[in-house]
Amino acid sequence: MIRETIVTSTSPEGRVHIAPMGVREENGRVILAPFRPSGTLENVLATGYATVNLTDDVRVFAGCLTGRRNWPTLTCAHTPCVRLEHALAHRELRLAHAEEDVQRPRLHMDVVYEQSHGPFRGFNRAQGAVLECAILVSRLHMLPAEKIDDELKYLEIAIEKTAGPAEREAWSWLLERITAFRAGQ
Ligand SMILES: Cc1cc2nc3c(=O)[nH]c(=O)nc-3n(C[C@H](O)[C@H](O)[C@H](O)COP(=O)(O)O)c2cc1C
Repeated sequence: MIRETIVTSTSPEGRVHIAPMGVREENGRVILAPFRPSGTLENVLATGYATVNLTDDVRVFAGCLTGRRNWPTLTCAHTPCVRLEHALAHRELRLAHAEEDVQRPRLHMDVVYEQSHGPFRGFNRAQGAVLECAILVSRLHMLPAEKIDDELKYLEIAIEKTAGPAEREAWSWLLERITAFRAGQ
């Protein structure tokens, strides 16, 4: 099973990097699988640490894919890393070993510490739609325009029926990005 999270990491100089990433769990370890080239990969290999953040604020996912990466972070309690300030929960991770791959290495991470900060309030279809749209945006250069249009039409139903203001804002950032991509083609 893959869970969609926000991974925070820092460079050796302390520069914060925030990226949406799907993570798996194997034998109690968290597996990160960044595609090269990747800021997260570079940071984890250099420092040995990362944090997995769980959030239902889908603006962070959409924002990171549309040039809005400046989300507030706090220093972690048990690792030399940072976490999202407004995460519902976070897990502080230490690199156990890196499985090399030219395209997509796998980082096996030990969980050093985890903490919940807020309750899970239930599924929301618009949040799911924003995540799906964010995935489309991360693959714009690979996908045919008709497929994107078909998927947007379907995803929009959940936005119209179930979104709150944060989901609408995130959705608008993603649509803007698709329009800009097409204008630049
Ligand atoms: C929901 C979601 C899940 C993603 N999962 C991954 C992933 O597992 N690995 C990856 O390399 N990129 C993933 N991406 C794309 C990255 O977030 C995006 O390419 C980002 O710029 C990569 O940051 P990096 O430099 O830290 O690799 C995902 C994007 C979204 C919206």
